[in-house]
Amino acid sequence: MVKPTVLVTGGAGYIGSHAVLALREAGYEVVILDNLVYGHRALVETVLKVELIEGDIGNRELLDRIFQTREFATVMHFAAYAYVGESVVQPDKYYRNNVAGTLTLLEAMRDAGVMNFVFSSTCATYGVPQHIPIAENHPQQPINPYGMSKLMVEQILDDFDRAYNLRSVRCRYFNAAGADPQGRLGEDHLPETHLIPLVLMTALGKRESISVYGTDYDTRDGTCIRDYIHVTDLAQAHVLGLEYLLKGGGTEVFNLGNSKGFSVQEVIEAARTVTGHPIPVTLAERRPGDPPALVGSAEKAQRLLGWQPQYGELGTILEHAWKWHQQRHRSV
Ligand SMILES: NC(=O)c1ccc[n+]([C@@H]2O[C@H](COP(=O)([O-])OP(=O)(O)OC[C@H]3O[C@@H](n4cnc5c(N)ncnc54)[C@H](O)[C@@H]3O)[C@@H](O)[C@H]2O)c1
Repeated sequence: MVKPTVLVTGGAGYIGSHAVLALREAGYEVVILDNLVYGHRALVETVLKVELIEGDIGNRELLDRIFQTREFATVMHFAAYAYVGESVVQPDKYYRNNVAGTLTLLEAMRDAGVMNFVFSSTCATYGVPQHIPIAENHPQQPINPYGMSKLMVEQILDDFDRAYNLRSVRCRYFNAAGADPQGRLGEDHLPETHLIPLVLMTALGKRESISVYGTDYDTRDGTCIRDYIHVTDLAQAHVLGLEYLLKGGGTEVFNLGNSKGFSVQEVIEAARTVTGHPIPVTLAERRPGDPPALVGSAEKAQRLLGWQPQYGELGTILEHAWKWHQQRHRSV
């Protein structure tokens, strides 16, 4: 049986590209819509080998053309800006792209009768947690415009379900990390702000040291604790979320994390073991707004979607990321 076609926005980016690979491997047809502000055309052409429409989610005319010329069962929506610090100094940029852009996309979907939506939300919608592990019913009080922009979309999705029966699966990711186990894809943000790629770039000699922001948190070694989830496991959860909607499932929200936290110090230690490099550290002041620990409970995704993360070990996440970074930087 031919499986339906999925429109993947932001499919040329980090998590989106891994989801495209997972969708292709599950037998779905995929079309990517990406304006390539951060996405990588070469990856789409050489690895993903699916149609890429270069364009913006906020372009209603383009969206109407896309939905008129093909039949899509679902939209999987990764396209967004995701730099927390930038969102504080340029909130308009975040509300325009992440909220207004998504609203335009949802209106075009509604008008075209495409009524299933899988959405990249974030643990940043919870703000500073009152307790961990964080379950989906934890209060959402984002502390920056990025997190707020994602929470606003979640609200819009609830309202679109009530008003138009547009059903959605909202995935609140914790820290996406790692790379395709076969080394075909990986994390390639510019600028890079995530801990694991920065640590590995230090091991490769592309940076002098890795900055550790705060060593006096109330955690087991004084550094911040985060929940790192392998990007291939995230991608798999999206396929399951899509299938849940295609089988008639109602609007739902799922935390996607490893349900385990690792401190910055533990990540650096594990990276030293994986890379065999000493990885120098620079100690720095705490950054405002960094909660001591963020760890999610993904019990609901496991129970309702049957999601079983395959690559939960920190060492495995680092090994896959390391393989990717070595390849990538050899070719740059
Ligand atoms: N990386 C993480 O740890 C993490 C954690 C939580 C949530 N998220 C969310 O996951 C999604 C993907 O994140 P990522 O790390 O892969 O980021 P990314 O920057 O690698 O991918 C985003 C993609 O969207 C595209 N894009 C942005 N604005 C667009 C627009 N207006 N029209 C069309 N394309 C546009 C970019 O070119 C890029 O290819 C984002 O929505 C992000 O907020 C990421």
